[in-house]
Amino acid sequence: MLDQQECTETIHDPDVRRPTLDPENWGEMRGLGHRMLDDTFDWLESVRERSVWQPMSTAARALLDEPLPIEGEDASTVYGQFLRAVRAFPLGNVHPRFWAWVIGTGSPIGVLAEMLSAAMNVNVVGGDHAATRVELQVLDWSKEMVGFPADASGILVSGGSIANLVGLTVALRARASADVTRVGVGAAGREFTMYASTETHNSVRKAVGLLGLGTDALRLIPCNDRFEIDVPALACAIADDRAAGRQPIAVVGNAGTVNTGAIDPLAALADLCEREDLWLHIDGAIGAPARLSPEITPLFRGLERADSVAFDFHKWLYVPYDAGCILVRDAAAHRAAFTEPAAYLARTSRGLWSDDTVAFGDYGIELSRPFRALKIWMALKTLGARRHAECIEANVSQAKLLADLVQADEDLELLAPVPLNIVCFRFTAPGVFDADLDAINEEILLGLQEEGIAVVMQTRVRGKLALRTAITNHRSRPEDFELLAREVAGRGRRLLDDRR
Ligand SMILES: Cc1ncc(COP(=O)(O)O)c(C=O)c1O
Repeated sequence: MLDQQECTETIHDPDVRRPTLDPENWGEMRGLGHRMLDDTFDWLESVRERSVWQPMSTAARALLDEPLPIEGEDASTVYGQFLRAVRAFPLGNVHPRFWAWVIGTGSPIGVLAEMLSAAMNVNVVGGDHAATRVELQVLDWSKEMVGFPADASGILVSGGSIANLVGLTVALRARASADVTRVGVGAAGREFTMYASTETHNSVRKAVGLLGLGTDALRLIPCNDRFEIDVPALACAIADDRAAGRQPIAVVGNAGTVNTGAIDPLAALADLCEREDLWLHIDGAIGAPARLSPEITPLFRGLERADSVAFDFHKWLYVPYDAGCILVRDAAAHRAAFTEPAAYLARTSRGLWSDDTVAFGDYGIELSRPFRALKIWMALKTLGARRHAECIEANVSQAKLLADLVQADEDLELLAPVPLNIVCFRFTAPGVFDADLDAINEEILLGLQEEGIAVVMQTRVRGKLALRTAITNHRSRPEDFELLAREVAGRGRRLLDDRR
C-alpha cells in the first residue's frame, strides 16, 4: 500500500499519464474531423454515381471479425478502416434507387445535427435544459402536423414499433377494467382484446404479445379489395367478444399499410370507437407525416380524432435514424401508464430537476434517451415543412408514374391499388403459372440488387410475389422509375426465354 506521502507524490507527479479519452493533440483531431466532414459530403453528393448495394468483400468481413482491441490505433488509421470496410458496404438507403421496406434517405442537415448532438452528448431524461425544450417544441409541431390538440402529450422514440407499443400500453392501462399495471393481465379475471386489419404491421402483433395479452388477442379483421379494414366485420368481431364476456380495448387503424400503403377508413373507425367506447390507435408510421401536404391531408380524414398516433420521422420525413414518435390525446392517461416513482428520480424544489419540468421517463419505456429531437428540429427549421411536403408529394407522383408505366406495359402487372407511395407489381406473361412467375420475379429482384441497379423488396399480394417499391426517398427522380420499369420488363422477358 502507498503511504500518504507517496500517494500525494504520485498524484502530483507531472510525468504520470492520467487516463483520459480526450485527444493528446486537439489540433490533429480537429483536422481529422474536417477531413471526415469533407469526405462525408463528397460521398453524399456523389451517391448517384455508385451502386445501390454490393455484397461485402472478404477483406471487409475479416476486419469486422477481429477480436476486442486491447490497445488503440491512430484515429486516422481507424478512419481508413471505416472507409474501406464499413462505408463502402452500406445498406443503400441513401441512394436514389433504394425503395426496399419503408426506409428513409436522411438529409445532410440531419448529418450535421447528429454531429452536434453527439458532441453535446446530452441524456434527454427531461429537466430544465435546452434539449428538453427542443423535444417539447418538436412534439408541439408534431401535434400540429397530425391535428392533435396542444394539450395532448407525446414522446420521441426509436421508431414505429416502439411507438405502437407505447400507444397500446396506454390504451390497455387506461381502459382495462382492472389495474393491470399492478396485478397483471393474468389476474384481471377477464380477457382483453384488440383489433386491426390483416394488413397491419407485425409490430402491432408484437406489442399485443409484449403486453401479455397473447397475440391471439389481436383480432385480425379482413380487408376489402383496396386492402382497407372491413368496418362491419370489425363491428361483428367486437360484438362477438363482448357477448363472450371479453373486454375489447382498442382498435388499430392504418394510415398507410406496410404492404400497399392502404389507408383504413379512419373517420369510420373513429365513429365506431366513439360508439363502442374503444381506444383508437393509429399506426401512421408511414403516412402521418404526409399530413404536412394540404393536397394529401384529405386522405387521412379522421386521423385527428384518434386517441393515439404512432409515426416515424425517419421514414417519410427523411430524418436520419432513429426518430419515431407517439402522441397521446389524453396526457394524464399517458403519464399514468408509465409513471413509476423512485427515490433517485424524485424532483427537487428548484433547479435542473424541479417539479415543473417534464420527466420523459413518465411517458415511455426509456430512461436514458438520445437527443433525437435536434435533427428533426434542424431539418424542419432549415428546410421548412413546405419543402418536406413537396418531397412527399413528389414521392406520391412518382408512385403514380410507376403505376402508370406498369399499366402501360403488357409484360407488367399492377398487383394493388396505389393510394400513396407504395407500388406492388410484377413481371407477367400469359399462360405462365404463378409459381414460375414468382421465381422469375424473385430472380429479377435479386439481379437488380446484385448488380447495384435498384433495391426493391418482395412481398405477397393475394398470394403472388410482388416487387414492392416503397418510395420515401427525396433523391429519386422520374427517370429512376422509368429505368426500374424497363429493367423489370426486359429482365423478365430474358428470364422467361431462358426457361423455355
Ligand atoms: C406501417 C408500419 N408500422 C410500423 C413500422 C415499424 O416501424 P419501425 O421500423 O420504425 O420500428 C413500420 C415499418 O416499416 C411500418 O411500415
